[in-house]
Amino acid sequence: MDEILEIKRERIENDFKMLETFTDPEAPWTRRAFSSQNKEARKWLADQFRAAGLDVYNDAASNLIGRRGGEGDQVFMMGSHSDTVIEGGRFDGIVGVLGALEIARCLQDSDIELSLPLEIVDFTCEEPTVPISPVGSRIIAGDITQKDLEGVITPFGDTIHKAIDDLGGDSSDISKAKRALGQIVGYLELHIEQGAVLEKEELAAGIVTAIAGPCRGTVQFIGQPEHAGGTPMPDRKDALVAAAELVIAIEKIVTTTGMSEENVGTVGWMNVSPNMINVIPGQVDMSVEVRSTDLESLVLVRKSLEEEVEKISEKRKIESKLTWDHLEDPVPLPLFMQDVVKSAFTDLSIPIKYLPSRASHDAARIAPITPAGMVFIRCLEGKSHCPEEWASMDDIVLGIRLLGQSLLRLNENFLKNKKG
Ligand code: GLV
Ligand code: MN
Ligand code: MN
Repeated sequence: MDEILEIKRERIENDFKMLETFTDPEAPWTRRAFSSQNKEARKWLADQFRAAGLDVYNDAASNLIGRRGGEGDQVFMMGSHSDTVIEGGRFDGIVGVLGALEIARCLQDSDIELSLPLEIVDFTCEEPTVPISPVGSRIIAGDITQKDLEGVITPFGDTIHKAIDDLGGDSSDISKAKRALGQIVGYLELHIEQGAVLEKEELAAGIVTAIAGPCRGTVQFIGQPEHAGGTPMPDRKDALVAAAELVIAIEKIVTTTGMSEENVGTVGWMNVSPNMINVIPGQVDMSVEVRSTDLESLVLVRKSLEEEVEKISEKRKIESKLTWDHLEDPVPLPLFMQDVVKSAFTDLSIPIKYLPSRASHDAARIAPITPAGMVFIRCLEGKSHCPEEWASMDDIVLGIRLLGQSLLRLNENFLKNKKG
């Protein structure tokens, strides 16, 4: 199939320049979900969606949605997220949102009507800004329900209810944002790889086969705060030493021989109390996160982590509590969606490369209710979630062309199946 969309590089460059201005001035490339920068960026995005001829609305989950093609229950969907982690995310999520926007503009420029309405989405709070993240795509899939919102507070001190409402949602009944199985006929997402597979193979783009399941929890160790000079070493109940043991144990667990090479594990956050130079740490609260694209391995990793917390706490005679906040299984992307994306690569004469995603995406969260396909583009040295995150404009433009062509192929596929 010929390429008919005329992707315009200058428009995309301009979008990136504009969206980048909505950042926390103290921390470059920071636009956390529910922050003032997130709200301002959303207003700008909504204006761009409107200028692309889209009908713009926020669903109850405050996902920002632009729609073309009129009424109808069934849609094609494309999107990603414009929120970021702290000091990271110039491209993470953003290429997917701005890519979808550019395709909407191209459809408008060429007056192309698809066989179904198209919705492009900036999903609310994909990054783990609140413990129930990703918020928007999980609500669409019905994976977060009203009672899950209870007690959730944003880092800016608001209830999640207020935060969702301030972004244009309706937290009094988030079920209104849920889509039934079959309503989203196909979902496509463009994203940076956030790994270095493509770069190492000198490839600009790849087809995603599966998305690793991040499992996130909190561990609390409660020991005894005491005088750092007066307490002999054998008498101590030092919560931070227990935490340190767990950090090392997680690294060992995920790298144990025989386990999947796809396993990863991280302690990214820790709160030490009372956090004073001359007091033995009495309490540590820490995050634990393990991921894999291999389900059996992931289940084993979770079990080993639970056992390790018990072991450390018994050995050191201190209390411990592990709470899993969020468990996800790896998500294989449907073969026919991989084929849809592959045909776009073939149309554009781009070498075919399949690869799994170790990072997670909105695509994984809405996959239970719709077939999802993903295009990856390479990013510099695989770096992401840091200020150095970088993708070249050449690769971004190619990624958007592949995303657009995938949409046309999806449309063609849908028509063929309808005719039977
Ligand atoms: C999303 O950014 C993730 O943590 O994979
Ligand atoms: Mn991210
Ligand atoms: Mn992302």
